[in-house]
Amino acid sequence: MKNDLLHQRECFNRRAENYYRTRNGDKQLLLRDLMYGELLKDVKIEKEKILVLEPMCGYGEGKRILETHFGNRICYEGFDYSDEIVKYAKEYLGDINVYVQDVTTFSSNKKYDVIIIMGGGSSCGIAWAAGRTEYVRAA
Ligand SMILES: C[S@@+](CC[C@H](N)C(=O)[O-])C[C@H]1O[C@@H](n2cnc3c(N)ncnc32)[C@H](O)[C@@H]1O
Repeated sequence: MKNDLLHQRECFNRRAENYYRTRNGDKQLLLRDLMYGELLKDVKIEKEKILVLEPMCGYGEGKRILETHFGNRICYEGFDYSDEIVKYAKEYLGDINVYVQDVTTFSSNKKYDVIIIMGGGSSCGIAWAAGRTEYVRAA
């Protein structure tokens, strides 16, 4: 299991630059905006500022997606186990709270308002809590 994780992480490290470039192509961006626009169109969180966690965040695009489709201000935190990807995220997205962390060993005492997990192409998942009710939505 540990070797599998290491092997997988090396693959993501090697693909970091290419992954960043292809993910930011016009058609890719348009597809994700349409998809998340539909997924989030009736979601309202009654707080001015929300605490967001994006595990396996890649380049931290969850921040842009939520800023685009939610009206709330976003206090963002993301992590990824690929140090190369985290380096790119910081280099290209500027002052973003992204750090190196393996999701299988992650724990936190914080209460996040939204946890977003995005797939590389066409899959996505979002979980959010409003008061005591929890929601999960995936596409
Ligand atoms: C398919 S990509 C999706 C990245 C990003 N969410 C996106 O939509 O662009 C999967 C990401 O998860 C990261 N990842 C895979 N396994 C992980 C683990 N065990 N812990 C943390 N990150 C992991 C990879 O480094 C990669 O950046």
